[in-house]
Amino acid sequence: MKSVILLGAGNVATHLYKAFKKAENITIKQWYNRTYSDISSYSNDVETIDDLSKLKNADIYIMAVSDDSIAKLSKDLPFENRLVAHTSGSVSIHDLDKKNQRAVFYPLQTFSKNADVDFSEIPICVEVTEKTNLQFMKDLANTLGCTPHKITTEQRQTLHLSAVFVNNFTNQLYRIAHEISDAKNINFDILKPLIMETARKVQDMSPYMAQTGPAKRNDKKTIKRHLKQIESEEHKAIYEFLTASIKKTHGVSTIYKNHRKTKNKTGH
Ligand SMILES: NC(=O)c1ccc[n+]([C@@H]2O[C@H](COP(=O)([O-])OP(=O)(O)OC[C@H]3O[C@@H](n4cnc5c(N)ncnc54)[C@H](OP(=O)(O)O)[C@@H]3O)[C@@H](O)[C@H]2O)c1
Repeated sequence: MKSVILLGAGNVATHLYKAFKKAENITIKQWYNRTYSDISSYSNDVETIDDLSKLKNADIYIMAVSDDSIAKLSKDLPFENRLVAHTSGSVSIHDLDKKNQRAVFYPLQTFSKNADVDFSEIPICVEVTEKTNLQFMKDLANTLGCTPHKITTEQRQTLHLSAVFVNNFTNQLYRIAHEISDAKNINFDILKPLIMETARKVQDMSPYMAQTGPAKRNDKKTIKRHLKQIESEEHKAIYEFLTASIKKTHGVSTIYKNHRKTKNKTGH
């Protein structure tokens, strides 16, 4: 049986709490949060605290707190030489105070408190400063049904950067599409099968191969019409920027020029 103490009560900590609670061979010994009201409703199921001096002994302390507070909170922990992990994609393992054995338990997924997640689908990036803790971290991920990956801080930061593109930026584009369709009283739901298919397609082929649309086709007429349709200057700038990026990736202008030359030569 592994004992876990959770620190933080935001999106990640709340999901970790629920997942650890369901997991076999895991006991959540305590749940700490700076703001007690966020965890008080769980006090019948777990010992809830807002005072670091009350922290008990546990196999691991998982700090799912804001990136900026990780270093200070790890320094404030009133014990030494125990296993302490953070859950951030971008904070170095070395930001954790040296007085404890350090680790990272980064679940590469997007978490919102009220949106369900399936932990069996989540890769967990693990890192340790003491090799002897690696198996423990992997086992902890496995207990949640997750797949552990041994990842360095540099690799994790690269993954986090990529995650911003695939998740945050893509979601902002959904937001813009939502705004555009809403403005014309068109239900955003009609676009949902396309969103699903876009995500599904890259499971089987590269994003390069999966690309379609007017930019890749160099369909100038459609691009011109779209730009005329867009009311917001900000959305127009994003459209133009991404169109140029797709064209560059697919070498559109060169392909089309060469294609036209070939056509002319052969008389087609
Ligand atoms: N959300 C995601 O999709 C996601 C995915 C993977 C990893 N992560 C990482 O997981 C960690 C937590 O993210 P989150 O989305 O769960 O954050 P969040 O919802 O914003 O929650 C932040 C938590 O940090 C606590 N906190 C903030 N400043 C503090 C301080 N100075 N001292 C003590 N506690 C403090 C907050 O306590 P109060 O309630 O008192 O404010 C709250 O419990 C971050 O490192 C983040 O990068 C997030």
